[in-house]
Amino acid sequence: MQKITIAIDGYSSTGKSTVAKQLAKHLGYIYVDTGAMYRAVTLFTMQNGWIDKDHFDVLSLVSNLDKVTISFTFNPELGFAEVYLNGVNIEREIRTLEVSSFVSQVSTIPEVRYQLVKQQQKMGKDKGVVMDGRDIGTVVFPYAELKLFMTASADKRATRRFNELIDRGDEVQYNDVLRNVQERDYIDSNREDSPLVKAHDAIEIDNSDLTLTEQFDTVLNLVNKTLDKL
Ligand code: DC
Repeated sequence: MQKITIAIDGYSSTGKSTVAKQLAKHLGYIYVDTGAMYRAVTLFTMQNGWIDKDHFDVLSLVSNLDKVTISFTFNPELGFAEVYLNGVNIEREIRTLEVSSFVSQVSTIPEVRYQLVKQQQKMGKDKGVVMDGRDIGTVVFPYAELKLFMTASADKRATRRFNELIDRGDEVQYNDVLRNVQERDYIDSNREDSPLVKAHDAIEIDNSDLTLTEQFDTVLNLVNKTLDKL
């Protein structure tokens, strides 16, 4: 059967990765979490002391981008690919609230975006890919056969992210998580280079009141319709 490219964009914590993983598994496609790539570059920046709450040494980051190698390796126990930075598994480390608090700033840097977009286009060049992020349908794969744009209320999204962080044992306050979600929405939507916008041909899905099963059924139906039209 012919394979397509599925681009899933949307605000922070809208459950893009959940539906993308489900779809990739169901269709036998590759799943690429592009947010994990921006988070990996952010962790690299933090590890080198180039970013904290008072400063961001953009020049050092940009001149050392050639020292960043990001890869994904499928973990059969988890059923998805984990992200590695220079050969080290960083899947857990990149999900902290601290990384979340800097990632939007790092993502505004055009040189960072240029490098990562190039890698993402390479990963998806043979189609059969589900990629989630902020600029997949607008910049990375503007000709994707199916583009989805996920939304949900900020409160719903913060609650989901808060529960995830608590479940894995992180000590966080709900208000800090909500503030982070709102700040990232603002920075991601207002940056100059490839801001988060809904592609004109993307289908919007508000999942505030959808169960995971309802959401998956909705999306799978759209995939089947797209495949039927080929
Ligand atoms: O999907 P996520 O929440 O893990 O993404 C983390 C951040 O990375 C997000 O706030 C903005 C940035 N990002 C981006 O600018 N472009 C992408 N394609 C994916 C993520």
